[in-house]
Amino acid sequence: MSEDWKPYTLPRDHTESNRLDAEHRGYKVNVGYLLHPRIREALPTNAHQFPKERDGKVEYGLLNVLKDVPEHHKAKFDVFHLRLLICGLKTRDWQKAARHVLDLLKPGGWIQWQDSNFPNLKCYNNKPGASRKACSGLLSPVLKALSAQDKFMPHSITGLMSLVQNAGFEDCDEDVSSSDRVAETRATNNVYQQDAVTTLGKVLAQQGAMPGWTKEQVDAVTARCIEELRDAKVYWRWDFHIVTGKKGP
Ligand SMILES: C[S@@+](CC[C@H](N)C(=O)[O-])C[C@H]1O[C@@H](n2cnc3c(N)ncnc32)[C@H](O)[C@@H]1O
Repeated sequence: MSEDWKPYTLPRDHTESNRLDAEHRGYKVNVGYLLHPRIREALPTNAHQFPKERDGKVEYGLLNVLKDVPEHHKAKFDVFHLRLLICGLKTRDWQKAARHVLDLLKPGGWIQWQDSNFPNLKCYNNKPGASRKACSGLLSPVLKALSAQDKFMPHSITGLMSLVQNAGFEDCDEDVSSSDRVAETRATNNVYQQDAVTTLGKVLAQQGAMPGWTKEQVDAVTARCIEELRDAKVYWRWDFHIVTGKKGP
């Protein structure tokens, strides 16, 4: 992996892939769609003929969104869906990423950028009086360390719409939804979200970015967090921002 990918904090292994699958299911239910209805309606009428994954016609490739777009990818895409880049981007990168997406799209093509407002991630009481001490005690140094690394910056998420506009997109709009729009998902959200907080904690502790914390201490507090989260007595909650916009003719 090249140096350009270094700012990304989470691991790229099978455990993380399984966590992302669970997260994907939670996001789909709570956002209410995968592709925004306004993009779906604007797609060409023959969109139902797009190849399905099971036909073996989907191509996968790697693209570093922070690098200049290669010539052969320029103006080639109808829709570009970015999701959850918050762990990878520093403040200066968000605008650059949006500009590169503009280069990738055909005239009239759409961007859908969904990101999570993790700076406002909080542990909420479902059962009045239930302890949230371990959860908030672990979250606080994790957010502090990420912020010191110029990641998870609140203005990046709340400013997502303007930075997409500033990159040159037209007719922009924003949906804001919450991770517990469907309250029944609180228990399953707790599992993948706690895994994310724990993994970030361990990575940051190993980097020496969380003064006074070791990987073992993160593990010990995690055991107490899991106890607090059991039966969703308390639950992790945060917002999603979904910005859509169109490339001009
Ligand atoms: C939290 S995961 C989200 C994965 C997936 N987009 C989803 O929503 O389930 C963040 C992803 O961003 C990717 N990423 C980080 N930096 C990137 C960059 N500069 N260009 C492209 N992708 C990047 C990581 O490889 C990782 O797959």
